[in-house]
Amino acid sequence: MSQCKAYRASILHSIANPYDVGAENSYEYFEDGLLVVESGAVVSVVDAEGLLPSLPADVEVIHYQDALITPGFIDTHIHYPQTGIVGSYGAQLLDWLEIYVFPCEGKFGDADIASAQADMFLQELLRNGTTTALVFGTVHKESVDAFFEQASKLNLRMIAGKVLMDRNAPEYLLDTADTGYADSKELIERWHGKGRLSYAVTPRFAPTSSPEQLELAGKLFNEFPDLYMHTHISENKKEIEWVSELFPERSGYLDVYDHHGLIGERAVFAHGVHLHDDECKRLSDTGSAVAFCPTSNLFLGSGLLDLERLEKQGVRVGLGTDIGGGTSFSQLQSLNEAYKVLQLQGQKLDPFKALYLATLGGAKSLYLDEKIGNFERGKEADFVVLDYNATPLISHRLNRASSLQEKLFALIMLGDDRAVKETFSAGKSLHQKQFAKSQKKANQ
Ligand code: GUN
Ligand code: ZN
Repeated sequence: MSQCKAYRASILHSIANPYDVGAENSYEYFEDGLLVVESGAVVSVVDAEGLLPSLPADVEVIHYQDALITPGFIDTHIHYPQTGIVGSYGAQLLDWLEIYVFPCEGKFGDADIASAQADMFLQELLRNGTTTALVFGTVHKESVDAFFEQASKLNLRMIAGKVLMDRNAPEYLLDTADTGYADSKELIERWHGKGRLSYAVTPRFAPTSSPEQLELAGKLFNEFPDLYMHTHISENKKEIEWVSELFPERSGYLDVYDHHGLIGERAVFAHGVHLHDDECKRLSDTGSAVAFCPTSNLFLGSGLLDLERLEKQGVRVGLGTDIGGGTSFSQLQSLNEAYKVLQLQGQKLDPFKALYLATLGGAKSLYLDEKIGNFERGKEADFVVLDYNATPLISHRLNRASSLQEKLFALIMLGDDRAVKETFSAGKSLHQKQFAKSQKKANQ
């Protein structure tokens, strides 16, 4: 049992969708819990008092005071090359792409730049407690090689792909239907299924791909087992108008993708803010997923996602930061803004549903819930230790919480990277928060 370790703290994980079973039946909580991990996988999660006496003497027990262990966060939509343009002023989607995004993405044909940015990006995810992400590269295959190389060094469960884009973007960022297909195929053969990595066929969005490119993307998506498809849909009103001008023969935005075979299990559509009911039904019927990206939808002025409608229709929904349209790598911050997006529509996001969205719900949207998303025996031990004393305000507020629900909600609303004490992937600690000298433990 020498590889076996046990982590003692409060432990919380989702076990079902709160929409199906009610919030109170959707989670398991151990006030004084023990997460037992061996060879990178979960052995058990139990009450500490019950198990500690029978734990073999050579099992190391790591005890965290005033802390909550949850599964690692899952980010179902993010762009690693856009890390350098987060928080860029004053534009909505189509202008923002032209002014900020395209010039920035133009640099990623340089393998050194791509590698340095991928490294920084992955560290930032880990600092924020995110252990799995579905990631856009750029049009350059070098960008994806660099990303997967860095992710594989850390043995992270990551999904990424090369952007397909053969029109309506600057010349320096265009591929062609044929080169896009060939480059993607080469990357799939090199990386898909290697360790914990998977490939996503990644047409940027309908306006930047010709019908020929979408056709080949659809062919590719259906050519290899377990591939993902990752794109944007119905984010912004002007974007939607543009799609109907470019594809007048299609019945709507989703139909453009559907027509080309870009729908189904492991197809993830970012945003979907302005989807129609029949499109939601089609997403649900085909097992496709929507990535809800609240910080981005607010920052770019795109609109408010009607989560209740998607849930009612049975659409799989994960949570995305959409860096750099989104403004924070922290899924706690995403949930904070998700709460406000729903408030503005008279909907509620209770904290257990919030936890579900950021963990098991994300895993289900990515069809990874047999591997990650909670602490069921045998799952990969991706987890995060959240610090109840992360800041004086968090400490002050949590000390006044009288229930788990209240404590969790306040932690989500007030938390960000500062609340992440330590992040583990496959049982290995990959980030430990540096404790600033000036930051004394604040109890009151
Ligand atoms: N639609 C097409 N490309 C992008 C992008 O890079 N970010 C966002 N948020 N939407 C897009
Ligand atoms: Zn995006």
